[in-house]
Amino acid sequence: MNSTGSEVRFENGDFNDFVLRPDTNGNHINAHHGGILFVNGKYWWYGQANQEKPESDPSKPAGATTREGVVMYSSPDLREWTYEGVILACEPSGALKGPMRFERPKIIYNAKTKQFVMWYHHVTTPGRHGYEIGMGDAGVATCDTINGTYTFHGYQRPAGPDMRVADSTLFQDDDGKAYFIYDSLQEGRRDERCLHISELSEDYLTSVHVRKIPELIRREAPAMIKRDGFYFLLTSGLTGWDPNPARCHRATNIWGPYDDLGDPCSGENAEITYNSQSTYVFELQDKPGSLVFMGDRWNLNNMKLCAHIWLPLEFPTKDTLELKYHAVWETGLFDRMQSSTERRQ
Ligand code: GAL
Repeated sequence: MNSTGSEVRFENGDFNDFVLRPDTNGNHINAHHGGILFVNGKYWWYGQANQEKPESDPSKPAGATTREGVVMYSSPDLREWTYEGVILACEPSGALKGPMRFERPKIIYNAKTKQFVMWYHHVTTPGRHGYEIGMGDAGVATCDTINGTYTFHGYQRPAGPDMRVADSTLFQDDDGKAYFIYDSLQEGRRDERCLHISELSEDYLTSVHVRKIPELIRREAPAMIKRDGFYFLLTSGLTGWDPNPARCHRATNIWGPYDDLGDPCSGENAEITYNSQSTYVFELQDKPGSLVFMGDRWNLNNMKLCAHIWLPLEFPTKDTLELKYHAVWETGLFDRMQSSTERRQ
């Protein structure tokens, strides 16, 4: 990310490029499957700090685990990022012993409890996905400040002990209700893997109600947004770290029914989401309504050097969404997209 005047420039490079994004210390930003929140005048980017792939294990993307935990970076304007440190740390023993995974951590603010609440997909050491308790659960942590040390509150399975938790996201609705949206599966029933939506308690620490969303069968990497009364849910298919086609589903009620809008990508490499997997969508503070898609571009040679791609979400009409590739683009593009949509309507 870079600046030209008041606009921010995003560089994604060619489809096979892993564009390095140094922080203010010159280190590549090592925060993966996370998100970005705007609080107290700053953007806060958080995610799991991956490991390098150990040479002793060349066959596996072993760097997908962490020995550090969830880390955070801050920026006043999306241009320069300062390392804030580890906000949820691995511990020498117990549930947070590394190497483990804090996959897809997401943070929202609870105005009632005045706490930042994180949910993520918890995989206890040695960090291999499994069905046993602890190997696929929903981890919860909170903090009074966005960038403080988060307190771990254990892990849970909203749909019951035999329903493993996998990829997930958090979504906060306009009425303050929050939802944990996640892929759930029962041992021996891989074909029935399906996204579930769990409504959270008022303090956002537990699930009060969970429902399977049958239209979202065999999807993962969920990223939910709401715009003009429509819920749009972006997801990937199930091919592990290998990229596959994205899909967008739309509903007017969070519980569904969800209409399948198909693949929002188009053109070259659309069938592999431009070599990425959906992670998160955030809004530009100085351009309300302008939404940026963040995708993880997995680097299996060194998970510490995984990259992100950043793309503008386009809404040709208020109930449709498009995601086009730009090797380089500036946020001024949103102003031009807005005026062409207005001309069409
Ligand atoms: C991906 C998933 C990642 C990670 C990976 C492991 O499909 O989105 O979060 O779990 O599989 O194979």
